[in-house]
Amino acid sequence: MRVIIVKDTDTLGKISAGLIAKEMRKSPHFVLGLATGTTPIPLYQELIRLHKEEGLDFSTTTTFNLDEYVGLPGDHEQSYRYFMNIHLFDHININKENTFVPDGMAEDIDAFCEEYEAMIKDAGGVEYQVLGIGSNGHIGFSEPGTSLSSRTHKTRLTENTIEDNSRMFDKKEDVPTEAITMGIGTILDAKRILLVANGANKADAMAQAIEGPITAMCPASALQLHPKVTFVVTEDAAAKLTLEWERPQSRKALSV
Ligand code: F6R
Repeated sequence: MRVIIVKDTDTLGKISAGLIAKEMRKSPHFVLGLATGTTPIPLYQELIRLHKEEGLDFSTTTTFNLDEYVGLPGDHEQSYRYFMNIHLFDHININKENTFVPDGMAEDIDAFCEEYEAMIKDAGGVEYQVLGIGSNGHIGFSEPGTSLSSRTHKTRLTENTIEDNSRMFDKKEDVPTEAITMGIGTILDAKRILLVANGANKADAMAQAIEGPITAMCPASALQLHPKVTFVVTEDAAAKLTLEWERPQSRKALSV
């Protein structure tokens, strides 16, 4: 387990994008797992810069997103498909036919979830999975209490998550109450995992995830079981960690 504590979100973006780009450059048909939310935005901005200025090629990359709200079509401004288009896909040379986000409008959601699992498997599995973390320790929309071996499924959002995400909607009542999400088991199948966290409101969740016991009450704590997981965390989000983790002075110091 690697924990890298950084001073600000700009450094978080540069270091985390650098880690991903390093793996992408080794493998032409890369399968990237993606998250939405505010935290990965600097990471996506840096991937865009690496594409535009340093030739990072996405033409043969396939992506799978973690989650999507049930009931929001892809052209809804708060859908995760829309988010991915405006924050990443529209600015790189990816073939959008190779970008997959769970279909929140699927008629048979259970059948869709099984199909999503099969699609990930057929693509050869996720090589690098990007994650954020909820203030309640969720990853994707796998909320506290979820089975630690769960697969892609429909979930009911907790009151805490609805409250956190209401900042993106006109009013709290507009936040969908259900979502499709990869399960913890799905996430743990990725060959590498990168979790990014920023903000003092994530400090408790980060401490539980990294230094606490493995428990369904903090789904991110299951990442302790993964052999190749890296957390890139800003100082405020790392404030409650007690062990001595890496604090690089620059991206160069990490050679990414
Ligand atoms: C969204 C997702 C969520 C977010 C988490 C943190 O695709 O996977 O788990 O990563 O809710 O969101 P932010 O970064 O907005 O605090």
